[in-house]
Amino acid sequence: MGCNYAALSIVAGRLMEILGREWVISERDLIEGYLYDETPEPIRPKPAEHLVLVKPGSTKEVSLILRTANEYKVPVFTVGGRTGLVGGCIPLKPGIVLSLERMNKIEIDKMNLMAVAEAGATLSDLIRAAESAGLFFPPHPGDEGAQIGGLIATNAGGVRAVKYGVMRNYVKGLEVVLPTGEILNVGGKLLKNNTGYDLMQLFIGSEGTLCVITKAVIKLFPKSRYMVTLIVPFNSRSDALGAIPEILKSGVIPLAIEYVQLREIMRAAEHLGERWLVEEGFAQLIIIIDGVRWEEVLSACDEVSRICESHNAINVLVADSPREQNRILKIRSNMYTAIKHEVVDILDVTVPPAHLGDLMDTIDKIAAKYNVNLPAYGHAGDGNLHVHIMRDAGSMDLVEEIRREIYMAAIRLGGTITGEHGVGNIRGKSLSLALSEKHIELMRSIKRIFDPNNILNPREYL
Ligand code: LAC
Ligand code: ZN
Repeated sequence: MGCNYAALSIVAGRLMEILGREWVISERDLIEGYLYDETPEPIRPKPAEHLVLVKPGSTKEVSLILRTANEYKVPVFTVGGRTGLVGGCIPLKPGIVLSLERMNKIEIDKMNLMAVAEAGATLSDLIRAAESAGLFFPPHPGDEGAQIGGLIATNAGGVRAVKYGVMRNYVKGLEVVLPTGEILNVGGKLLKNNTGYDLMQLFIGSEGTLCVITKAVIKLFPKSRYMVTLIVPFNSRSDALGAIPEILKSGVIPLAIEYVQLREIMRAAEHLGERWLVEEGFAQLIIIIDGVRWEEVLSACDEVSRICESHNAINVLVADSPREQNRILKIRSNMYTAIKHEVVDILDVTVPPAHLGDLMDTIDKIAAKYNVNLPAYGHAGDGNLHVHIMRDAGSMDLVEEIRREIYMAAIRLGGTITGEHGVGNIRGKSLSLALSEKHIELMRSIKRIFDPNNILNPREYL
């Protein structure tokens, strides 16, 4: 569905009355920065021409915006920190771009170990707010400029999801605005809640297609008093990956188990003007261990080191200062950024964790078959691998063929096409590889119940 421009300009006028002129922006150069995310340029969808950017300051204003847009059937595209990798927030039709950046308050409830965060607060704001209350938000779901609403709408994962899971496992309550303008509260500061269908879990990961998230209750943890990061180099990938199930079976549950290859992690360090800490081996594991007692952390490190050594680890580097550990995390988080200009597509296929080695062997075969480079690294503890199709693949037809082979390899191993970055505006056409016809049909029916006029992030597959 498109909207006619007359409707868009009437709505823009109404929104100026609701929000004040200052928060309704039509100048393209002021909107431009809101129209892209981190999707690689060759596959990034093109934003529409006629767009109006609005920046509400309250849930009430979000509600009025949606009610007005719904009345005139004008599409609304909610944007967060624009750190996504599947063009999910790119407005493909004329309409309204909705940024919640002014709604960025965070309150910490120390007694219940929870944060109440508005959707426009950033991940960095949340990390700092938790820290200043002596609490801890364990996962690191990506770029710290990401916003809470976006993290929840995409069920972000990232590094440090091994121990307590992805965003879904942290969200306990939501305030959302439905496409009709109605405000709905689901869940709360509750650890148990079996009252009816769990709409909150449906909203988490719904990529802004069912509602606009305005506020969230997020579970925090006591600050882990001790944290260490191990970097463990191996000569062979199968040794590195083979150690992971042993670590998990040992009873040690690290916050993170990341798999990287020396060549790519060194490039990321160089990109930041730094040096990687361990220039040995072909494959490396980055393992983060935390705990409340130093002896507990030490004995977990001993156990992990012992297992890695029995899998032919060359060495174990132990980083225990916060500064050094932040540096490691920063370099790891910049792996994609460092190669982005050469990337055509970054995949995030996910398989049962113990099958990651099989998946990577198949990807090697695909690389050899097409004579291309397919750099890969990822959240190995979660079975979630980032494989990059690079510009050396040549034509887009070939890119598509390679992508499909990688998807099918993951699916054959009991996996799926996206475990982290989501469907967005670029994976819809591949959805039927992973989901049954019935599943997609039910998704469409759900979309229609919540959004009868299809105004929220209209998607071609819904
Ligand atoms: C990462 C992003 C690309 O893991 O998901 O670095
Ligand atoms: Zn990732």
